Amino acid sequence: MAVMGVATALVSSCSSVGPVAESPLRIEGATYVGNQACAECHADLCRTFPVSAHGRIHGAGLKFSGGSGCESCHGPGSRHVAAGGGRGKFILNPGVDPEACFRCHLEVHAQFDLPQHHPLPEGKMNCVQCHDPHGRDIMKPAGGLAMARLNQSCAQCHRPETKPAVFEHPALREGCLICHEPHGSVNLKMLVEPDPNLCLKCHAQEQGPGVRPGEIFIGKVPHTAFLRQGTCWSAGCHTAVHGSNMDRLLRY
Ligand code: HEC
Ligand code: HEC
Ligand code: HEC
Ligand code: HEC
Ligand code: HEC
Ligand code: HEC
Ligand code: HEC
Repeated sequence: MAVMGVATALVSSCSSVGPVAESPLRIEGATYVGNQACAECHADLCRTFPVSAHGRIHGAGLKFSGGSGCESCHGPGSRHVAAGGGRGKFILNPGVDPEACFRCHLEVHAQFDLPQHHPLPEGKMNCVQCHDPHGRDIMKPAGGLAMARLNQSCAQCHRPETKPAVFEHPALREGCLICHEPHGSVNLKMLVEPDPNLCLKCHAQEQGPGVRPGEIFIGKVPHTAFLRQGTCWSAGCHTAVHGSNMDRLLRY
């Protein structure tokens, strides 16, 4: 993006997994003016911002180079303010270009670079389809029980996997993230595991009398021969892993 700077400044974060480095956002000829200057025209957003995820971080005293609130995502605002504001007027909108988010969230950037990812780098999606940058709750949609809400956020775009089924797979109650990475993964379909280990987390192999060493029993059914032919959700096996209207064993 043309207006972005490349200079890098190190920032210390209290979280070990959190963002560690950032390059200040740049808008030609503009300087930082602080949140007060935004409140004049964006009063509603400025009122809710302190209780948002990023507002709380700033409130806790974590300062970033170049601005410590609105401008950490939108860039220095002096020219936008001087121009009386307006769309596309000397201000960055990370809802259009996620670079502003990536400069702090390097790990998330790396996840979207993995071979299987939501098509965000391709410009077909954006962070704000799943995250609310200003609200009390950074996850969309806000409100409700955490897991129901999370599945609901995926359901907006993935109907077949989330519609009710006659034979439901109780795994879905744990939420989509039991099996899928939300941003990206090395595994096909963004799965957290590429193989039967995905399912064996909950469906323990059975031990005991009658089970010979090397034989795999799942749900009292010998699976040794099946697993030589593919994985649990290969063709002919549990392909209806999100739920089935026909088969209790989720085969179709
Ligand atoms: C100036 C640096 C900075 C920018 C820019 C930034 N973040 Fe963050 N963000 C942080 C820090 C610091 C945390 C807290 C540490 C952590 O959880 O990684 C955080 C936390 C988060 C969280 C987790 C919040 C939680 O409650 O668990 C999400 C989601 C998030 N950011 C999304 C975004 C999105 C989307 C953007 C762009 C619109 C963005 N961030 C821009 C610094 C930044
Ligand atoms: C003098 C009034 C005024 C001030 C001060 C002001 N803005 Fe704006 N801003 C506007 C107007 C008007 C719009 C257009 C909104 C619309 O069309 O709904 C706008 C739009 C925006 C947009 C959307 C830009 C886009 O291209 O989509 C962002 C982001 C923004 N402002 C951030 C800020 C920030 C951050 C500050 C403080 C540094 C600030 N504004 C200060 C009036 C102002
Ligand atoms: C974590 C990054 C982040 C921070 C901090 C942040 N914003 Fe935003 N802002 C965004 C993103 C992302 C969008 C795009 C939202 C969308 O398209 O739904 C946005 C959109 C906007 C818009 C345009 C809204 C519209 O109608 O399209 C305005 C105005 C704005 N922000 C002002 C502010 C103000 C004022 C603050 C400080 C109180 C602030 N933002 C803090 C990320 C941030
Ligand atoms: C398809 C939906 C989706 C999109 C698009 C998305 N996220 Fe997320 N993100 C999630 C979910 C789901 C979580 C996990 C929340 C939880 O565990 O409660 C998450 C977690 C996070 C976290 C905190 C945990 C972590 O992995 O560090 C950050 C930071 C974050 N996202 C940033 C971003 C940024 C920045 C973008 C855009 C570049 C983005 N996300 C785009 C769904 C999404
Ligand atoms: C705003 C729409 C949107 C939301 C919300 C969304 N996705 Fe997606 N998802 C997509 C798009 C677009 C693709 C790419 C589809 C394609 O390439 O055919 C995709 C692809 C996928 C894929 C891989 C499919 C494949 O063929 O490789 C999985 C798995 C997935 N999403 C799971 C999730 C989960 C889990 C969530 C909730 C955390 C979620 N999605 C939220 C739009 C969305
Ligand atoms: C028990 C694990 C598990 C859970 C929970 C789960 N999935 Fe999946 N999902 C899979 C597996 C395995 C595949 C791969 C199926 C295949 O390749 O045929 C898959 C594939 C997908 C695909 C790609 C479908 C296609 O036709 O390419 C999407 C989209 C998806 N899941 C979305 C979701 C959503 C949304 C949720 C939450 C409501 C969810 N999944 C919960 C295991 C799971
Ligand atoms: C989060 C835990 C969890 C995960 C992960 C999980 N399942 Fe399940 N699954 C369950 C529960 C709970 C049941 C219902 C109780 C039972 O039959 O064990 C169930 C039931 C089933 C059934 C129906 C069994 C019957 O006898 O009615 C099949 C088939 C199945 N799962 C396949 C899979 C496959 C394939 C995977 C991997 C893609 C998988 N499960 C991953 C929790 C999980």
